[in-house]
Amino acid sequence: MLSLLFLTMLSMTANALPPQVRVDSEADSVSPDLAPSNAPENATAGCTQPSIWLFDDTHHANITMGDRSFLVHIPANYDPLTPHALVVSFHGFRTNARKQEEISGFSEKGLTLNGKGIVAVYPDGQYGPGKNGKKHIRAWQGAPYSAPGVDDIAFTQQMVQQLSDNLCLDSNRFYASGKSNGGGFTNLLACTPATASLFAAFAPVSAALYAGANPTDCNPGRPVPIINFHGLADKIVPFGGQDADHRGRTEYATPNISEYREAWANRNGCASITAQQAAAADHKLGYNAVISHPHTHTTLKESPCSANDSQAVVNGFTVKELGHSWPSTLGLDGGVTTFNATTANILPFFDAHTLG
Ligand SMILES: *[C@@H]1O[C@H](CO)[C@@H](O)[C@H](O)[C@H]1NC(C)=O
Ligand SMILES: *[C@@H]1O[C@H](CO)[C@@H](O)[C@H](O)[C@H]1NC(C)=O
Ligand SMILES: *[C@@H]1O[C@H](CO)[C@@H](O)[C@H](O)[C@H]1NC(C)=O
Ligand SMILES: *[C@@H]1O[C@H](CO)[C@@H](O)[C@H](O)[C@H]1NC(C)=O
Ligand SMILES: *[C@@H]1O[C@H](CO)[C@@H](O)[C@H](O)[C@H]1NC(C)=O
Repeated sequence: MLSLLFLTMLSMTANALPPQVRVDSEADSVSPDLAPSNAPENATAGCTQPSIWLFDDTHHANITMGDRSFLVHIPANYDPLTPHALVVSFHGFRTNARKQEEISGFSEKGLTLNGKGIVAVYPDGQYGPGKNGKKHIRAWQGAPYSAPGVDDIAFTQQMVQQLSDNLCLDSNRFYASGKSNGGGFTNLLACTPATASLFAAFAPVSAALYAGANPTDCNPGRPVPIINFHGLADKIVPFGGQDADHRGRTEYATPNISEYREAWANRNGCASITAQQAAAADHKLGYNAVISHPHTHTTLKESPCSANDSQAVVNGFTVKELGHSWPSTLGLDGGVTTFNATTANILPFFDAHTLG
């Protein structure tokens, strides 16, 4: 199938270029056996090779990869020759791909990144022991209840490879997001050099930042754009942090979310703006955030890393009265807010950040 397509492309190229046409000397050095590709550099292999994936009439495909699976949604206007942005969204503890699609809404009709429909992907976590042991509950790496020995970083890399090979994606526009345990895993992806350089920006929501998901030696290798949401009424992962869970288990310790965001701002080099710049923008030095109130009950601390640089920023949304939820007006994940985090803030943030 693949070689057939390649032969077809070769013969098309041969037909398009009559032998007497000589463009420049550089063209002479190109072997006639190598068909030049018209695909832009940021187009994945899936833009030039056929896919065996079949999508149903709701534009979904459930892809199995070894003992794992991921749910893929392509936009209604998916064009196999145009690179599309990819958003991966990781579910929370005890939930699954379908539920994550519902609460995050990345498959909603008409959403775009870079003016094109989005390929939205919802992987399923591996079954772990649960919070009290010996149960069969889905989770991601980095939590006390994760399946022992499962390398979800490698799984994510393999999944993105499969997506790149089978769909026409824009490799400068891969994004990672997740809720709770999936938000913690999103943070781990941001801390890991191989995946910090694979995804352009990260959206951990109500993130469960246990030590395994928020390593003290977080060294992404580049400034990483982060957009983070957390409710002040979150009882599962309290905004102020905790030293242990209600049963005294210290492996359930999570950080103060303000300090977590500040750590990212510092790591990204945001503290390097001068005192003068900070004063001019009404910044506080150290955690030099610009403070605003974009939605009811919501404070946004934005940390641009220099007066010039909109690339590496840390945006922290603190939502009063919100519990352990993905902010949505419909309360799709429990808490009701006056805004949809996905469309109001996450997608515009992703749109502003690309790799390369
Ligand atoms: C996808 O298929 C796997 C394996 O059959 C199954 O466990 C999983 O629940 C399916 N996911 C969805 C979203 O249908
Ligand atoms: C990448 O692909 C898109 C098409 O989706 C195009 O608009 C964009 O200019 C390309 N180049 C870069 C560097 O992103
Ligand atoms: C969280 O950290 C911030 C900044 O250091 C501090 O002002 C706040 O009191 C802390 N909250 C709790 C509950 O410790
Ligand atoms: C902004 O960027 C330019 C060019 O890189 C640099 O010369 C200038 O000093 C920067 N300004 C500030 C305020 O960082
Ligand atoms: C939030 O999303 C829901 C579901 O798509 C939609 O019905 C609602 O109008 C949206 N709210 C806002 C404020 O955009």
